[in-house]
Amino acid sequence: VMVMQVAWSQAEANYDESKVPDFELPDPLKTFNGKKIRNSKKWTKKGRQELLDFFTENVYGEVPGELKIASAQIVEQSENALNGKAKRRQVELTFKKGNRNLHFFILMYLPKSVEKAPVFLGYNFYGNHTITEDVNVIISEAWSRDNPSFGIINNQLTEQSRGVRTNRWAIEKMIDAGIGLATIYYGEVDPDKDDFTDGVHPFFYVDNQQQPAASEWGSISAWSWGLSRALDYFETYSEVDENKVIVFGHSRLGKTSLWAGASDERFAGVISNCSGCGGAALSKRKFGETVGRINSSFPHWFCKNFRNFNNNEEALPVDQHELLALIAPRPLYVASAEEDQWADPKGEFLSAFYASKVYDLFDKKGITSDKMPAVNEPIQNTVSYHIRTGKHDVTDFDWEQYINWAKEQVLK
Ligand code: GCU
Repeated sequence: VMVMQVAWSQAEANYDESKVPDFELPDPLKTFNGKKIRNSKKWTKKGRQELLDFFTENVYGEVPGELKIASAQIVEQSENALNGKAKRRQVELTFKKGNRNLHFFILMYLPKSVEKAPVFLGYNFYGNHTITEDVNVIISEAWSRDNPSFGIINNQLTEQSRGVRTNRWAIEKMIDAGIGLATIYYGEVDPDKDDFTDGVHPFFYVDNQQQPAASEWGSISAWSWGLSRALDYFETYSEVDENKVIVFGHSRLGKTSLWAGASDERFAGVISNCSGCGGAALSKRKFGETVGRINSSFPHWFCKNFRNFNNNEEALPVDQHELLALIAPRPLYVASAEEDQWADPKGEFLSAFYASKVYDLFDKKGITSDKMPAVNEPIQNTVSYHIRTGKHDVTDFDWEQYINWAKEQVLK
């Protein structure tokens, strides 16, 4: 029934360019008071800060306190993974407060050719063991959404789902390029359901609090928090270059990688794969998924304050191009898929185009034309964009582009 509902409303959405409302996009180079921002220094001190504050309090929600890694333990490793191509590490990070405990596992494949490896860091949807056939990958005990086609029932991950998502992770291509992969099952940080009693949220409750305050974190912000903690770990870990961590995510996890990159400037580069509404796509276009729609289907993703803009995108003093601008001057890659109209590819492209204004302040080349490129013809600058043929997914084509861009724009 749930699936039917989503399918029905996706069909109901607007996909007609002629029905996109007239809208005015806020200029990232003007403060909320209308003052012009003329240089990168002013941007960083004033423009960036007020936008960051707005997105924090009104879109993703603030992290209510600090929670540091209590212990980090390499629980499994091999010098000869992937037929001898890579090193494998599985690290358990533990967090503690009062009598609460949270654990998540980082699975890493690192190139043997590099002592301190750059890495792509990204969450997976169904557990670390789904991204590879490797039988040594530990199966998470955390709650999972059911997916009978992967043999996931009763919210439990099992052996049956090993390797079911290998198609989304071009690990060997990364390793061949000298770049590692670090991945985490997002459900270990916060189960993806409208329930604020589980995951990391309750660590900060006072007295009998049941859920975060209206300006406090939803799940996307909690998942972003987890990515930053993984980066904290890399700062202590000699085999990963903490200055070369490129945060990656697809779809809801692409919204997450963008927020992680925007809110934590230590990430060296950011990739948004089909992130759509509340990610790279402009909200004011109301094309495909809308703010009202996303907040009702997924009430736990954003902070409660974001609901003020349900069916009221006009009132937003920001739009998602300004989320992208928060990543400047660091390299950013936005990618869409032709058949993923729900995520509004054109809105994702325009967002990257309008964010490029801020990159200009830093003399970094962004997207210079407002005409969308043809399918499968990437534009690769400090800000990069492609739209590929096919569906809402992550493909080898996507990874080939990300690897190429990483080598040219992030790691050089
Ligand atoms: C739904 C949701 C999108 C999201 C996607 C996903 O389609 O409406 O916003 O990006 O799920 O995470 O796969």
